[in-house]
Amino acid sequence: MSKIAIFYGPDGGSVNRVADIIKDKIGEDKVEMVAVKSATAADIEKYDKIIFGLSTVGKDTWDSEYSTNDWGKFMPEISKTDYSNKVVAVFGLGDHITYGHAFVDHIGVLGKELMKNGAALVGPVSTDGYEFDESEAVVDGKFIGLPIDEDFEPELTEERVVAWLEVLRPDFEF
Ligand SMILES: Cc1cc2nc3c(=O)[nH]c(=O)nc-3n(C[C@H](O)[C@H](O)[C@H](O)COP(=O)(O)O)c2cc1C
Repeated sequence: MSKIAIFYGPDGGSVNRVADIIKDKIGEDKVEMVAVKSATAADIEKYDKIIFGLSTVGKDTWDSEYSTNDWGKFMPEISKTDYSNKVVAVFGLGDHITYGHAFVDHIGVLGKELMKNGAALVGPVSTDGYEFDESEAVVDGKFIGLPIDEDFEPELTEERVVAWLEVLRPDFEF
């Protein structure tokens, strides 16, 4: 069975920590970890089952001052791939207290770019249980990926991940 790739960035922060939790829950032997800071579209092509993980670290997109971070560099690679035959999901870190007006916006930015390139995202998440004012990650009343807030709700991370992985399980075949 083909491996599930977790493309994550940045390295060494909350995204990395949650990516590790997801890897452990799926099973280390079934997962390949790929740090986006040194990845290209050729790496995306190697996998047919991909979970992308990122954080929102600015209200604007990666074009602005954040263009030098891991995802800023990797983002242009996203649109070089056709995702119509791949199984794809997204999780994203955010802070619902300080940035409730832009909560996990980059799940939305990335998710919409993936959909533009043929992806049917697996694992939409109900907004029930989340407090926020606005989020670009909400499409048709649901988050299009899994929001995690390690800054203010770290105690909810594990249960949110576990519930989400149950939704992903049939499509990702683990
Ligand atoms: C400069 C800066 C801007 C941020 N902007 C947002 C934001 O717009 N929306 C949001 O939900 N979280 C925002 N956050 C919170 C981060 O997404 C959150 O702390 C996340 O856990 C960081 O994960 P990382 O350490 O893996 O990058 C911001 C954090 C920083 C430092």
